[in-house]
Amino acid sequence: MNIDVVILAAGQGSRMRSKLPKVLHDLAGKSLLKHVIDTAQQLEHTHLQVIIGHGADLVKERFVNEDIQWITQQQQLGTGHAVQQALPFLKEDSITLILYGDVPLTRLSTLKSMVSLVTEQSIALLTVELDDAAGYGRIVRSASGSVTAIVEHKDADTAQLNIREINTGILAVKSSHLREWLPKLSNNNAQGEYYLTDIIEMAANQGIEIKTVHPDSEQEVQGVNNRLQLSDLERWFQLCQARELQEQGVTLKDPSRFDLRGEITVGTDVIIDTNVIFEGKVSIGDNVTIASNCIISDSSIGDNVEIKANSILEQASVAADCVIGPFARLRPGSQLAEKAKIGNFVETKKTIIGEGSKVSHLSYIGDAEIGSGVNIGAGTITCNYDGVNKFKTKINDGAFIGSNTSLVAPVTIGKEATVGAGSTITREVSDNNLAVARGKQKNITSWQRPVKKS
Ligand code: UD1
Ligand code: CA
Repeated sequence: MNIDVVILAAGQGSRMRSKLPKVLHDLAGKSLLKHVIDTAQQLEHTHLQVIIGHGADLVKERFVNEDIQWITQQQQLGTGHAVQQALPFLKEDSITLILYGDVPLTRLSTLKSMVSLVTEQSIALLTVELDDAAGYGRIVRSASGSVTAIVEHKDADTAQLNIREINTGILAVKSSHLREWLPKLSNNNAQGEYYLTDIIEMAANQGIEIKTVHPDSEQEVQGVNNRLQLSDLERWFQLCQARELQEQGVTLKDPSRFDLRGEITVGTDVIIDTNVIFEGKVSIGDNVTIASNCIISDSSIGDNVEIKANSILEQASVAADCVIGPFARLRPGSQLAEKAKIGNFVETKKTIIGEGSKVSHLSYIGDAEIGSGVNIGAGTITCNYDGVNKFKTKINDGAFIGSNTSLVAPVTIGKEATVGAGSTITREVSDNNLAVARGKQKNITSWQRPVKKS
């Protein structure tokens, strides 16, 4: 069965007080709309249609590579009017699933069970009971319990206002039914809008059953209207992700200070301290320890790695038994072989560090290939950039680079070669040689310190 997913995203979201369209605000590193799209795309045989209005161009730009039918709703005359715009695009014999660009966390399983309930004789409606139903459309049921209508808060009478079962807005229905009912909507109501919700009464009057589905949690159907709701939902979502990792055996020192903005895979006995942020795709092996305040993006980390506090890894790959930080920065293309060590205030970029090699303190190593068993002294810098072009530094196995060395690339240091501290190396150093490239020390015996003038 084809599923036409219609996502409503034309509203301004003025309570966000933002120049960015509401649906482009991020939750867990991904825009609200992207959450909805990603979930919908996991249903089979879907065709996505997004109704846009406010900030339409900005929204479209974000999804240029996705197979989406964009439909512009020039004036926002109500949810029914919004879905009307999609009518010409609905497939002949499909089910239409209506979602909202600002309701990001609805689960796939919920959507699947809704779609499975739709027939020529039934509609599926997602409803939930709330302690405080203020503002929502109320689900009106007959004495026998069947749904007969949805009444919007502003149109409800006193008895209806006491109903706690509310409309989440999400529903699934045969497209042929929408073709029949939507043209009959009127805006004769308290808000002067074309309410999508009015189709429920039309259906009930025709003897079509309204089957209700309920989400596992309220947050699954929570819309975002302001930044407070956005952060509440973010925290809830992060806590869910944290719980999931804890169930997989990860130690989180404080699950309320854990952020995953992407996807993570973890081995056994991983320990993550407070305020660690993961972004993009991250994989972590067994027995890994990550101390506080680290940011790890799109990186892979092998077994038994220790990442000390305040380290930042971006598109880095770290093999087993490495030690990183504190205060290390591994930029894109940093590849560490087993047992390598990157110490404090060391920055690496597009660099291969061989097995057991150490860059322990205060260095910049960029565009470099470093063999195994190399020791790079404190303060060593690869001068990889002449202001226009970048050049490579190659350091072969077993080399020892003295502290505060400048390696002016392109340059090669041979196997087991030694560079004296404070050298500026501009030419190749052969295997096993010692290179010293610095001014000679002079000791002046008759030196007088200047005296202060009165
Ligand atoms: C709607 C439902 C209400 C439900 C509530 C759940 C209707 C008439 N009411 O009310 O029963 O309890 O959602 O949150 O459907 N939109 C458009 N174009 C429009 C109008 C709205 O794209 O012309 C989009 C908005 O951007 C928004 C969503 O549809 O994301 C909901 O619209 P909104 O006006 O907020 O509906 P509610 O009054 O909250
Ligand atoms: Ca709303």
